[in-house]
Amino acid sequence: SAAEKGGYDYFMLKEIAEQPRAIADTLLGRVAVDGTLTLDEMRLAPEELRQISKIVIVACGSSYHAGLIAKYAIEHWCRIPCEVEVASEFRYRDPILDPQTLVIAISQSGESMDTLMAVRYAREQQSRVLAICNVNGSTIPRESDGVLYTHAGPEVGVAATKTFLTQLVACYLVGLYLAQVRGLKFGDEINAIIGQLARMPEQVEKVLNTVQPVRDLARSLAEAKTVLFLGRHVGYPVAMEGALKLKELAYMHAEAFAAGELKHGPIALIEDGLPVVVVVPSREGRSVLHDKIVSNIQEIRARGARTIVIAEEGDESVRPYSDTLIEIPAVPTLLQPLVATVPLQVFACELALAKGNDVDQPRNLAKSVTVE
Ligand code: G6P
Repeated sequence: SAAEKGGYDYFMLKEIAEQPRAIADTLLGRVAVDGTLTLDEMRLAPEELRQISKIVIVACGSSYHAGLIAKYAIEHWCRIPCEVEVASEFRYRDPILDPQTLVIAISQSGESMDTLMAVRYAREQQSRVLAICNVNGSTIPRESDGVLYTHAGPEVGVAATKTFLTQLVACYLVGLYLAQVRGLKFGDEINAIIGQLARMPEQVEKVLNTVQPVRDLARSLAEAKTVLFLGRHVGYPVAMEGALKLKELAYMHAEAFAAGELKHGPIALIEDGLPVVVVVPSREGRSVLHDKIVSNIQEIRARGARTIVIAEEGDESVRPYSDTLIEIPAVPTLLQPLVATVPLQVFACELALAKGNDVDQPRNLAKSVTVE
């Protein structure tokens, strides 16, 4: 009913709008004022967490993209090797696991059969398994050693939105907690990031308040045959999530590339008028990557691409090469996916609406897939 949708026409629109609240709720009670993290509910003792020598993240769909982003954060903050794999592949390739491996299973529903089978396999190999889930008491957390719940609230729209952002928050919390527990040398950086993480609800709110031009843009692209997405570092999985959203909702061909790979093949696809969405890295620290992407934007534009550029506010370097410039708040690199994903959700949703699709129940898809 209209009341359940909070006055919105679709659950998805309501769920996109709820993201600042969902992030705040996922942080609530877990971050003390002095920056100490409390994640006792994970049921994994600090002693066990100090023994871990490898992390393996398994998930499907959007949850897999959250895992890809988590890898950058966990390896950087904790210096623990971290692999990420789609659950349906992981399970059947005889992966190397042992009791010092922490397997993190990310699943909104806690019921995806592929992920559940990976969890069972990991436990048979004596690995510790931590679930990141949104549905209390669902199967995956029940079968795992520990769980960290995302507090996004029920998500009705089939395509993940607020659960994706809160999965990212949960992954960041796990990474920062591991760094704290293992007493790593980056104390100051970790504390600064925790402070920034606490401010993410307002940053996402800012994005939502400035996203109208994205809707107009999406409507103008309803007839496009394909849309390409480019990113690098954490912006690469963000690009993958943007492409997945477009496939799921708008039934449109979309593909994401690591921007550095462009020259190794995909640049041959560029032709006049082809829409290309580019996620520009933050200018913090890794400005080398930032400058490389600016060159990529120039290269594709010179070949006729219609460039849709998502960049930090005040980043004037991209403006001359952007047919459309979408500004997001400047936040630390590793947290940028929280703000960069939002315009992509809105873009896919609005484009799908322009085509007359039901964005809550896209054709052929299920909210949770309980078969292999
Ligand atoms: C289905 C949904 C996707 C979701 C994926 C993983 O395919 O349509 O939106 O990302 O399952 O679901 P999970 O509940 O395991 O996160």
